[in-house]
Amino acid sequence: MANADPIVDVADLWMSFPGKQPDQPVHVLERVGLQVRHGEFVCIVGPSGCGKSTLLNVLGGFLGETRGTARVEGAPVRGPDPGRIFVFQENGVFPWLTVEQNVGFGLWQRSAAERDERVRHYIAMVGLQGFERSYPRELSGGMRQRVEIARALAANARVLFMDEPFGALDFLTRLKMRQDLVRIWQSENKTVLFVTHDIEEAVQLADRVLVMSKRPATIQAEVVIDLPRPRDLDSPGYLAARDRIFSIMGMDAHGGGVS
Ligand SMILES: Nc1ncnc2c1ncn2[C@@H]1O[C@H](COP(=O)(O)OP(=O)(O)OP(=O)(O)O)[C@@H](O)[C@H]1O
Ligand SMILES: [Mg+2]
Repeated sequence: MANADPIVDVADLWMSFPGKQPDQPVHVLERVGLQVRHGEFVCIVGPSGCGKSTLLNVLGGFLGETRGTARVEGAPVRGPDPGRIFVFQENGVFPWLTVEQNVGFGLWQRSAAERDERVRHYIAMVGLQGFERSYPRELSGGMRQRVEIARALAANARVLFMDEPFGALDFLTRLKMRQDLVRIWQSENKTVLFVTHDIEEAVQLADRVLVMSKRPATIQAEVVIDLPRPRDLDSPGYLAARDRIFSIMGMDAHGGGVS
């Protein structure tokens, strides 16, 4: 369950990239404000190129903001901090390491016994027993994403940032990965900030969906998804939330409107 303290707290955040001309910066984020509470699952949706990845990169400490503050667990973000925040990347696994070496990668400071125990536990949780000694090239795309999830959990970061983690997977694998992620999020009590341009995915996963506007982007709307899990994708509540987000983004559910 979420409690009241924000774990991620962003106030009036602005971010620009230097442009081709020195006096013409590319304004990406403007007046972005958002809060994520402990244990929440929040999705961010928005048009392509609006600044979703940029926002996650600022919050993860990989990019500096131009103005405003981003705080995680009360402290301003000053750089990457993998113990606190795990940034889940689409191709985050190391191809030259086995599954168990990948999952144990961030655990070098722990004892060998503790490391082995954590690695075993999280490999089992994501259903990869029997593949401990396999290399990523010997796995399917979905299995590689499971390795990345196990790695994030083993590292024990309290906040997971995920940027379109399932975008490259086929439809059925994507559905399965969403179910697994929700199950693991519930059992491990993590906080998740998840970027996707798939509105149905957002409504399936999130406690709240934040809708970003076109660039320069701000948080345009917040839609609370107060539906029981596992979610029924035919239920009136699900369809209403989905259609509401489509209409905020200027589209209808059948692909009409501006893209
Ligand atoms: N390193 C960079 N230098 C200059 N401009 C950049 C840089 N990275 C991103 N941008 C610009 O910032 C804007 C936002 O990019 P970003 O990748 O954050 O969008 P996004 O919402 O994640 O898009 P998508 O949905 O396609 O992943 C784009 O106009 C992009 O061209
Ligand atoms: Mg992106």
